[in-house]
Amino acid sequence: MRKIIITIDGYSSCGKSTLAKQLAKELNYVFVDSGAMYRAITLYFLRNHIDWNMTEEVVGALPNITLDFAYNDLDGTSDMIMNDENVEMLIREMLVSENVSEVAAVKEVRAFAVAQQQQMGLKKGIVMDGRDIGTTVFPNAELKIFVTADPAVRVERRYRELFLKNPHITIEEIRDNLEMRDYIDSNREVSPLRKAEDAIVLDNSNLTKEEQLTKVLGWVKEKLN
Ligand code: DC
Repeated sequence: MRKIIITIDGYSSCGKSTLAKQLAKELNYVFVDSGAMYRAITLYFLRNHIDWNMTEEVVGALPNITLDFAYNDLDGTSDMIMNDENVEMLIREMLVSENVSEVAAVKEVRAFAVAQQQQMGLKKGIVMDGRDIGTTVFPNAELKIFVTADPAVRVERRYRELFLKNPHITIEEIRDNLEMRDYIDSNREVSPLRKAEDAIVLDNSNLTKEEQLTKVLGWVKEKLN
């Protein structure tokens, strides 16, 4: 069957990766969490004391970073591998979340990540989630989805997810972080978070994961026919 490119963009913690993962599994497509790439680069910069406001430092550091995904066929998840190290857990920590939007706003960082993302889409059959996938990475994608959810619902979902790893985390910390990231992601100069004109809006505030998947699979079917 013909393979297409599916892009899933939207604000932080709208369930984009969950949807992308489910879709990829269902369609037997490759799932790419583009945010994980920006998170891994942020981790590298933090560990190696790279000042991302200094262009020479960024340009000097980027060639030393190799990014790969390790796929788990059983549950459809993928782990971020940076320079042969599995950093999947580390990149989800608050320190990375607090800095990643600033790092992702750096022009050279975006060019580095976007080039690799476009390479991954050459064979199609891919579901990629992020902020600029439908606008910049794959402007010609066959199916573009822009996910939104009520801010209170997003904070609650993120809290439930992070509480398991860190019981000391507070709702306020999470709300502040989400608001800050959305602000920086939407207002940066280079490919800010925007809905592509031809993207379909999916508000999943009141949808279960199953309902959401069924809806989107319907859209995929329409595109393939
Ligand atoms: O999806 P996420 O929350 O893991 O993404 C982490 C950060 O990376 C997010 O605050 C914005 C940035 N990002 C981006 O600028 N462009 C993308 N395509 C994906 C993520």
